[in-house]
Amino acid sequence: MRYSGLLVAATTSAIASAAANNATCNSVQIFLVRGHGESIPGLQTSITDAICHDVSNSSNKTCGFQSIAYNATSGAGTICQDQYDGIRLLRGNLTAYATACPNSRLVVSGWSRGGALVTDLFAGGGDGLDLTGTCVQPSSPALAPEEFLGPHIAAVVTFGELHHNADMAWNVGNGSAADGVRLPFPYLISAWPTKTLLTNAQRYRRPEAMLEKLSLWVDRFRDYCVVDDPLCAQGADVAAHSSYFQSAYWPGLVSEFVRSRL
Ligand SMILES: *[C@@H]1O[C@H](CO)[C@@H](O)[C@H](O)[C@H]1NC(C)=O
Ligand SMILES: *[C@@H]1O[C@H](CO)[C@@H](O)[C@H](O)[C@H]1NC(C)=O
Ligand SMILES: *[C@@H]1O[C@H](CO)[C@@H](O)[C@H](O)[C@H]1NC(C)=O
Ligand SMILES: *[C@@H]1O[C@H](CO)[C@@H](O)[C@H](O)[C@H]1NC(C)=O
Ligand SMILES: *[C@@H]1O[C@H](CO)[C@@H](O)[C@H](O)[C@H]1NC(C)=O
Ligand SMILES: *[C@@H]1O[C@H](CO)[C@@H](O)[C@H](O)[C@H]1NC(C)=O
Repeated sequence: MRYSGLLVAATTSAIASAAANNATCNSVQIFLVRGHGESIPGLQTSITDAICHDVSNSSNKTCGFQSIAYNATSGAGTICQDQYDGIRLLRGNLTAYATACPNSRLVVSGWSRGGALVTDLFAGGGDGLDLTGTCVQPSSPALAPEEFLGPHIAAVVTFGELHHNADMAWNVGNGSAADGVRLPFPYLISAWPTKTLLTNAQRYRRPEAMLEKLSLWVDRFRDYCVVDDPLCAQGADVAAHSSYFQSAYWPGLVSEFVRSRL
């Protein structure tokens, strides 16, 4: 019961009150970046529930989450700018929390398009990579571990993310050997590519320079992907794309990883 009360209080988290009173800072604060078309907070609450339940049960630490209010209902011409703006919003919201709550441990979580947004923060965004091929995403720098935010960030987790790269040290799940794909846009599930349809242009690997930046976070980053997921692994089962949130398995695994990083 202690946990649910804390989570409700934390959900209404306001930086202003955190700044005014350190007592409102959560020991663990999770930043959620939702998928395309989701309303806030979205499916990733099964992940935050697991993390916060375990954190409060094992240590009685306070734990909560906040959502990044980027535009997740973009049109074909605006999705690149919305993604770029979302990266800045995420960086800004993390910085504000870390400034007001210097002793809090921050966790970043993103799904699908939101996962791509999260990894763009740590790998760098744009640079010719865009989500749909319908516009050009402006470039944004990678967040380096030496920057102000570096020591505040405890863990980064992504699920079914579009920028998934095969055979990376941070990959988890049986989709680990596959590359992600561009989001077919407009968002037509019937148009999701399958292995037989894929062309090189649809595969969505990051350039090596971005992977080098991302690898600086390898101890704190896990990228979860199942082999049937059409977006991170070129699979053919649309339902697999949201399977990370629909049993206790992945939330339990993620919570264990996050606690090992706190
Ligand atoms: C919160 O506490 C830290 C030390 O624990 C302190 O450095 C910081 O200034 C405090 N923030 C506010 C807004 O009081
Ligand atoms: C809380 O933690 C204790 C000790 O680790 C464990 O035995 C118990 O099952 C946990 N409770 C819940 C509700 O997870
Ligand atoms: C958490 O707090 C409760 C109530 O004060 C206490 O009974 C319990 O032992 C504490 N658990 C841990 C792991 O500190
Ligand atoms: C999000 O983008 C869509 C499509 O470009 C636009 O119609 C909508 O007004 C935007 N929403 C917000 C909150 O800016
Ligand atoms: C995130 O940053 C934006 C832009 O500065 C701000 O409007 C919003 O209130 C912040 N969100 C939270 C939960 O602090
Ligand atoms: C991949 O892993 C998921 C989750 O554990 C499982 O449901 C699925 O059956 C696995 N697929 C294959 C082809 O092994």
